[in-house]
Amino acid sequence: MVSESFRCFTCHVCSMPARQGWEYHEEGQMSLTDTTTRAVDRLSVPLIVAPMTGVSGVNLVAAACRAGVVGSFPTHNAGSPVELDDWLHRIAAARPPAGQWGLVAPNLVVHRSNPRLDDDVEVLARHRVELVIASVGSPASIVEPLHAAGTQVLADVASLRHVDRALEAGADGLVLLGAGAGGQTGWANPFAFVRAVRERFAGPIVLAGGIGDGWALHAARVLGADLGYLGTRFIASAESLASDAYRSALVSATMDDVHLTAGAGGLPASLLEGSPSSSGGGFSQAGLLAAGEVWSAGHCVSGVHRVEPAAEIISRVEREYLSAVAASDNVAWPDLRRRGRITPPHSRSPSAG
Ligand SMILES: Cc1cc2nc3c(=O)[nH]c(=O)nc-3n(C[C@H](O)[C@H](O)[C@H](O)COP(=O)(O)O)c2cc1C
Repeated sequence: MVSESFRCFTCHVCSMPARQGWEYHEEGQMSLTDTTTRAVDRLSVPLIVAPMTGVSGVNLVAAACRAGVVGSFPTHNAGSPVELDDWLHRIAAARPPAGQWGLVAPNLVVHRSNPRLDDDVEVLARHRVELVIASVGSPASIVEPLHAAGTQVLADVASLRHVDRALEAGADGLVLLGAGAGGQTGWANPFAFVRAVRERFAGPIVLAGGIGDGWALHAARVLGADLGYLGTRFIASAESLASDAYRSALVSATMDDVHLTAGAGGLPASLLEGSPSSSGGGFSQAGLLAAGEVWSAGHCVSGVHRVEPAAEIISRVEREYLSAVAASDNVAWPDLRRRGRITPPHSRSPSAG
């Protein structure tokens, strides 16, 4: 007999065994491509520690990978392509000889104002990284060289127009930037956004914005996303590059302190009350880097209560995620039973699985 929390959780009806909710029963519902499925199959929880300017460095990425999830960082956090090469070597060296190791997913700003783009692509291709996340623009120029190196490309998108553009450019998957995200935020409601994208795309979807714990992560998966993108939750991690002042501001802030501004590189951004910010006027890579440390956080900042190691955050998210999977069964089974739609698992014969 399959245990409650390890049954297929997408439908709550079938009895297909699932490892931590990773398997789906319906054709097309589990949308990951084969390659990505193989890659995420080894994750401890379906989570990407999102790339953050001035926050994500070698230690945070290595901690994320050691905890069995995806660790990302913007390549511009390394001061030059040479330093990027060094960072990738140091991250690889942090891999334990045995045991779990997630996935390294560098983030490239693909905007035309990024003078390092070609050089950084060359470094990433040389290291044959498995996954790259493209942001602020079309991934068209990076897809071919990265595919040739065996790298999959996810593209940040904030609208359906962006989705079409990214898919036409050959992106393998999408990061849906929803409202209330930290950094340069999206504006779309995540419920509407995921469902609208699922109507046109069956490939890998990552949902970004407002996911601060395992409950929200499970909700994202129920909606139809494959992975959750968590940024704000990790700014106050012990391994982040954020200053102590920024981390303290984050710990004492709530979502009421988050304001939508045109700061941080000229695009709409979520900043904490009192943060320094730059004016609007359009994105430029130089403007982003010149902005220095802006205190950015998303709506899920309300759930950040202390500075702690990334591994502890990830293991708590994993526990919450599994609790949420089990709790949604508790909601769904009685509801479906009332409607006469299912036979509860305990009334099945053991051989029914
Ligand atoms: C301080 C900060 C810096 C960020 N820098 C980047 C960046 O360089 N590149 C990028 O693609 N996204 C960046 N983001 C956005 C995150 O990758 C992610 O989309 C966002 O944090 C998810 O929402 P959440 O903060 O609600 O978890 C940044 C976010 C924050 C909070």
